[in-house]
Amino acid sequence: MTADIRIVEVGPRDGLQAEARILPASVRAELVDRLVAAGLVSIEVGSFVSPRHVPQMADTAAVLAGARRPGGGRFIALVPNLQGLEAALAAGADEVAVFASASEAFSSRNINCSVAESLERFRPVFERLDGTLPVRGYVSCAFGCPYEGAVPMSAVTRLSAQLAEMGCYEVSVADTIGIATPHQARAVAAAVAAEIGAGRVALHFHDTRGQALANIYAGLDAGITSFDASVAGLGGCPFAAGATGNVATEDVVYMLHGMSLSTGIDLAALIAAGEFVSQHLGRRTGSRVARAQAAQAAA
Ligand code: HMG
Ligand code: MG
Repeated sequence: MTADIRIVEVGPRDGLQAEARILPASVRAELVDRLVAAGLVSIEVGSFVSPRHVPQMADTAAVLAGARRPGGGRFIALVPNLQGLEAALAAGADEVAVFASASEAFSSRNINCSVAESLERFRPVFERLDGTLPVRGYVSCAFGCPYEGAVPMSAVTRLSAQLAEMGCYEVSVADTIGIATPHQARAVAAAVAAEIGAGRVALHFHDTRGQALANIYAGLDAGITSFDASVAGLGGCPFAAGATGNVATEDVVYMLHGMSLSTGIDLAALIAAGEFVSQHLGRRTGSRVARAQAAQAAA
């Protein structure tokens, strides 16, 4: 039975890439196993980027080697260029994700090149793959940039169309710094959907200002059925000033199930996975639903 809503779990990558405490590959692999056991099918397990820039993701090959795939889980690896793709292929990734920014300033800080140059770096990625693995694309700073401020919607729709045309089966429209509010979220989602089709759009909200669930609701209203989320609300980007965690997967699942929308995810097992990683990071979970459940259990 297919779920009404697709959740792409980005915790093992987006969630852990900005954490001060670097988790060993064995713990990252166990987190992935627990997420698979909770019913998550699409999991971004890590990235193949410069370990000098992002030491947290250095052992992603070992995570892919250590994690299991019962029930047809798909492990996604984030790659910035051909070098990253080769490493992802050697490590056995099932899918890769490329990432570009709707703002020049963030592109430069994040990947040290212009937006146009980043697209040029993706061309050999698509050529090398030649359709053998699915490719997802991200549009960062789609709702605002920490360095440039407002980002024109035309930049978002243009970049989304370019990524879709290059071969991305889905474009994840990302609020890197958690600045969007619901009417904007709906307008941007609808504009990208009009450009590439609602079925090829995903939304990726960081929850920096507490707007992410409302923005997801607005995205549903625009006909979007694919959302990124991070277990325990972990996340952030080391190159986006002030960015904090992604919306917590537990909270998204709670909201969707409460709206009678299926996800295929077992909320209790997901909460347990969030507790596992929070303990290893030595911090409290960012999921409000997980906190509420823990408080109820303790009462
Ligand atoms: P660069 O420094 O601009 O230049 O790297 P380079 O291409 O000349 O390479 C320099 C060094 O990096 C060389 O090594 C390369 O071999 C190495 P050296 O000779 O100095 O020892 N290198 C690599 N190493 C490992 N894997 C690779 C790779 N490519 C080159 N794939 C680069 C460009 C993109 C690699 C670098 O700037 C980088 O790694 N940046 C980190 C980007 C990143 O991971 N950002 C966070 C993820 S994006 C995000 O969080 C947003 C998202 O969640 C959506 C949203 O919320 O907006 C997706
Ligand atoms: Mg992100």
